[in-house]
Amino acid sequence: MWTTSGRRREQRRKLGLLLLVIVGCLVVRRYLPLKLDGCGSLGAPRFNWSNMVPIQRWNRHLGLQAKDSEFLLEGSRFRIFGGSIHYFRVPREYWKDRLLKLKACGLNTLTTYIPWNLHEPERGKFNFSGNLDVEAFVQMAADIGLWVILRPGPYICSEWDLGGLPSWLLQDSSMELRTTYVGFIKAVDLYFNQLIPRVVPLQYTQGGPIIAVQVENEYGSYDKDPNYMPYIKMALLKRGIVELLMTSDNKDGLSGGYVEGVLATINLKNVDSIIFNYLQSFQDNKPTMVTEFWTGWFDTWGGPHHIVDADDVMVSVSSIIQMGASLNLYMFHGGTNFGFMNGAQHFTDYQADVTSYDYDAILTEAGDYTPKFFKLREYFSTLIDNPLPQLPALKPKASYHAVRPSHYISLWDALEHMDKPIESEKPVNMENLSVNQGNGQSYGYILYETSIYEGGTLFSKDHIRDRAQVFVNKIYIGYIDYLVEGLTIPRGQGHRKLSILVENCGRVNYGLMLNKQRKGLIGDIYLNDSPLRNFKIYSLEMKADFFQRLSSTWSPVPEEATGPAFFRGTLHVGFIVLDTFLKLEGWVKGVVFINGQNLGRFWSIGPQETLYLPGPWLHPGENEIIVFEEQKSGMIIQSMDTPYLGRSHYVD
Ligand code: GLA
Repeated sequence: MWTTSGRRREQRRKLGLLLLVIVGCLVVRRYLPLKLDGCGSLGAPRFNWSNMVPIQRWNRHLGLQAKDSEFLLEGSRFRIFGGSIHYFRVPREYWKDRLLKLKACGLNTLTTYIPWNLHEPERGKFNFSGNLDVEAFVQMAADIGLWVILRPGPYICSEWDLGGLPSWLLQDSSMELRTTYVGFIKAVDLYFNQLIPRVVPLQYTQGGPIIAVQVENEYGSYDKDPNYMPYIKMALLKRGIVELLMTSDNKDGLSGGYVEGVLATINLKNVDSIIFNYLQSFQDNKPTMVTEFWTGWFDTWGGPHHIVDADDVMVSVSSIIQMGASLNLYMFHGGTNFGFMNGAQHFTDYQADVTSYDYDAILTEAGDYTPKFFKLREYFSTLIDNPLPQLPALKPKASYHAVRPSHYISLWDALEHMDKPIESEKPVNMENLSVNQGNGQSYGYILYETSIYEGGTLFSKDHIRDRAQVFVNKIYIGYIDYLVEGLTIPRGQGHRKLSILVENCGRVNYGLMLNKQRKGLIGDIYLNDSPLRNFKIYSLEMKADFFQRLSSTWSPVPEEATGPAFFRGTLHVGFIVLDTFLKLEGWVKGVVFINGQNLGRFWSIGPQETLYLPGPWLHPGENEIIVFEEQKSGMIIQSMDTPYLGRSHYVD
């Protein structure tokens, strides 16, 4: 039983406590750099991140912690609202614009992969400058007020050639990628010796924005070596990574990808509590994080253009947040697989990814707002106490005058201006060709020539990777690929030249085929039952110096201009240089180069029908445009102010 005075005492005590909580909250709000999520209204979660930005310099001791079922940042509750942008898929001149848009959408964290194959194109030759200046990208994110989650691989998947691994690893015929095979981990160690010291000072506890680092990528879907993930974890720790470590896997890979002492997170498209419960069954009482919520999907040549409905994205994002989880939008902005860097898929059939990595993401390939952006921004503005930043201005696009190529050189004539071909009794695959200071050829095309004296069936018992056009005395006979395994070579008189032009269409980036990604002619090629011998092999990687050699060799475009050939024209640009989209109507298959830079591949089978040409790659006045066309010229190249992405298909 309680007396009246006892009740009063109790009421006073409760009032006192309430006052203490209110004063406590005010003190926390005033003095701590981090505002708590949930010190606000009941019901819908509310967040205030105005002080929780990397440029605030408070004493940093604790970093991001996975404590109980929540993240804590410097001891205060925190939710990751992240978005992926890959610096290597966006011209550096646009990094800031895209990051400001990520912030303006209401997100607080940037995630990015780091592609090993771009940073170490040849063994021991590193590049961390220009568009590959990952430190500048991370620092820029910090300056804009974003935290960063780094995904340094070494394998990154990401629809990127060989999942980001350098092709020279495949010179070793016993190579076992993504395992503790000594040839692999030695190379990883040497790369990490260069990469990790660059990012160590950018970690949270050293005053930088990096709050977490991912160990490898979706290892559970590969899962070939139980010692590998612990090795990569140690490789990061040994070199000074101290922030929270994470793994990320899809549902089926969770058990294989899990590493002791590392926070497991999930990748998904469709959210449901069963998946979340499953994740929690691995690590009771840990925060739930969706590291990849797929906002769209990638496309492959010959397939449909994938679309994910904006309202479906909103339903998933809001349920993830309502369930108390953190998330990262993969992709917030996809960008472009410039050059020959696209990956490929090979489950039942081989399918190469297209040049655009638009991904139907929150921003378009060219960085423009989409309905998904506005819906997300509106939604986040109802959750976040402070007004969201102003929207960065739209970037106008141009449709320049169409270009009619004036000059031409056939591939056969171009060969005369190249290095001497490599002579070899048997075919040699790209990676093992003795070019690039012993690092082999990584990307592009490779041409094998030999003499034949009879007709018959041309076929490869091993493999032709990925698509070979076959010519006899420069006359096109047909092609061989994964589905067409052989060709009939017509009979002819005496000695004839057989030319096999093989395109590496992109190495597989996911699944168990990674070790089988050598390109060109793999093993022998037979005419009837005899293996062909005595090849001349031309490496056609089409780097900038290749076109410099061609500079004095062009002639006017003939009336009947067929491929394989290079077509050169001029794109005239006024004082204001803007982005544009190139449309190659009537052309069939090839690659476009602008002022020496490889924009990427085109192919009339779609779904991609325009190539994104970023304004910073142009200059006022005359811009050189070169098209390598395998088959038939379309005579003009149109420039448009909107992209066209072909027929659409909703991802289900
Ligand atoms: C996985 C990978 C990503 C990417 C997506 C599909 O989740 O982790 O790198 O390949 O699939 O876009």
